[in-house]
Amino acid sequence: MAEYHSPRERVLVPDGEFVFTEADFKKIASLVHGEAGIVLTEGKANLVYSRLAKRLRAIGLRTFREYCELIEGEGGADERQAMIGAMTTNVTRFFREPHHFEYLKAQVMPALAAKAKSGGRVRIWSAACSSGEEPYSIALTVLDALPEAPKLDVLILATDIDTNMLARGRQGVYPATALGSIPAAYHGKWLEQERHGDTVRVGQAARDLVRFNELNLLGSWPMRGKFDLIFCRNVMIYFDEATQNRIWSGFANVLQPQGTLCIGHSERITLETLPFRLVAQTTYRLNG
Ligand SMILES: C[S@@+](CC[C@H](N)C(=O)[O-])C[C@H]1O[C@@H](n2cnc3c(N)ncnc32)[C@H](O)[C@@H]1O
Repeated sequence: MAEYHSPRERVLVPDGEFVFTEADFKKIASLVHGEAGIVLTEGKANLVYSRLAKRLRAIGLRTFREYCELIEGEGGADERQAMIGAMTTNVTRFFREPHHFEYLKAQVMPALAAKAKSGGRVRIWSAACSSGEEPYSIALTVLDALPEAPKLDVLILATDIDTNMLARGRQGVYPATALGSIPAAYHGKWLEQERHGDTVRVGQAARDLVRFNELNLLGSWPMRGKFDLIFCRNVMIYFDEATQNRIWSGFANVLQPQGTLCIGHSERITLETLPFRLVAQTTYRLNG
């Protein structure tokens, strides 16, 4: 192991392959917070180490100090993006938190289907969509209520900061085990199952409804027009309260009056000045 650090520097992972000091951790945590809003406390030091040790091996660096110099330097943009990708948690699955899809089907889709059928514009945003299971679950629910949706002005915008996840979403190919969480009634209709393969592809109709784009929730939101429905689930937990409130407030600006916002099971909108009211479990409607 390279003894490059001063003996006074606190080493956070004592038996690690690479020396990882408190100063290295602080630099990385500050960059990740600044770029993606993700809060990393020192309790996450082992997680940061193990996720980034793979990056050090991949690019052939010997120390975290060298890695910090790379990501802080002018030529470090690509590696900064790879670092953010390594630090994000992308866990997701089809029809996760199924009550949102039940609410969508029973309480939201009747009005949205009528709007689309009469020539109206329907826009849905899956913000922090990971590898696509969430926006495709929305698409399948939309198709179930409105099979002609791909021919109407209906679109689901699916965004994430992690471009590797977006690439997987665009492909729309998932292990066949994913079928277990997709309602059986949709299998033959909206999915393309390979006869002998271990994978299943989301069918063309659902793929036609979803557009994947890179978007950092901390940056600007260049979309024009307002959304009828926003899903933003299981990402706010990684942000501090001020960032969460800024993003909730941003959603209020881009939702239609009475538009719906679905958030993650352990997330809450607590700031009373925000114009949302709780209408079902972790489901809000914009006032107006
Ligand atoms: C745990 S996944 C949630 C996926 C899906 N919404 C769900 O609930 O199953 C969190 C996602 O948030 C994304 N993410 C983290 N920080 C982000 C940011 N600043 N802007 C946009 N997406 C971000 C991650 O890349 C990751 O794909």
